[in-house]
Amino acid sequence: MSVLTRDSAIAEQIAAFGADWVPGEPLARHTSLAVGGRADLARLHDVQRLPELVDFLGRRGVAWRFLGGGSNLLVVDDDLDDVILKLARDSGRLEFQGNRVEVPAAANLGTTVMECAKRNLGGMEGLVGVPGTVGGALRMNAGAYGTQIGDVVRALKVFRGSMRRMETLSHENVRFEYRHTSFGPDDILLSVSLELPERDYAEILEKIKQCNQKRRASQPINERSAGCIFKNPPGLSTGRMIDELGMKGHREGGAVVSERHANFIVNRYQATASDIFRLMDLIRERVRAAFGVELEEEVVTWRN
Ligand code: EPU
Repeated sequence: MSVLTRDSAIAEQIAAFGADWVPGEPLARHTSLAVGGRADLARLHDVQRLPELVDFLGRRGVAWRFLGGGSNLLVVDDDLDDVILKLARDSGRLEFQGNRVEVPAAANLGTTVMECAKRNLGGMEGLVGVPGTVGGALRMNAGAYGTQIGDVVRALKVFRGSMRRMETLSHENVRFEYRHTSFGPDDILLSVSLELPERDYAEILEKIKQCNQKRRASQPINERSAGCIFKNPPGLSTGRMIDELGMKGHREGGAVVSERHANFIVNRYQATASDIFRLMDLIRERVRAAFGVELEEEVVTWRN
């Protein structure tokens, strides 16, 4: 069913689940790359209503996808058929108990790191400049400067979309690997319990400052991007390979290989998703030809 033909009765029904209905929303507004076609969006305020909402969509034969912070996401230019579910920012608060903190998945990652720091809880210093939500960071096992979020997870609550069931998992039941976890596409992370080492606020701030300096010097933090586009193959650096090919500054339409870090594609001149996909294909081909390496996408891509 296309976004343009979905009947309007659904809007009222979705509102009954305590969600805002935003028909034909440009997803470019929800992604850090600022590209992506339109889709119907349901923004949910009360996480507890999620099973009912997903059940309702299922009964109506409406497919859905879940959107986090959109900071590691590349959406095609075409309109998407699926309804996009998103948790509103107000859908929960941080709750501290000793050196544990319960964090709602929709919380901003950087803000969470800082809130923990204020309570003398460290261990996530490297993650402060990683954009996006805590849920998104968990799903991808986001990492930087020696920290991976999976390392500090004790337990988490997840909604298993395919079974329409809420589950609490302990960290032993989740596989956290390099930019990959054992969660499926229909799993929606709801909240996480983190266990963090106690450290002095000043010490944490100093470490954060150092990581930020490194990041500013080596990544295009003021441009629109989705972070690193490709994963690093074991033992290799994708950024270095693309750099050695002389591809920094290479432009396809409005998309450019960052001069600051070659594994970042930046949307500098009103790029479309097609520009970015073309640039990715070109990088993949050149790296394959020169190094015999098949690059794997790090960014999540959405197509119909
Ligand atoms: N390098 C170059 N040219 C470049 C970029 C990098 O020669 O254009 C060289 C660097 O000089 C360094 C090596 O490649 O010797 C590695 O570069 P860097 O330290 O910047 O780290 P990275 O492996 O490219 C990874 C993560 C980043 C994370 C940084 C810092 C991946 C794909 N990337 O980058 O994560 O911020 O380490 O820990 O794992 C992301 O996931 O989106 C991301 C940006």
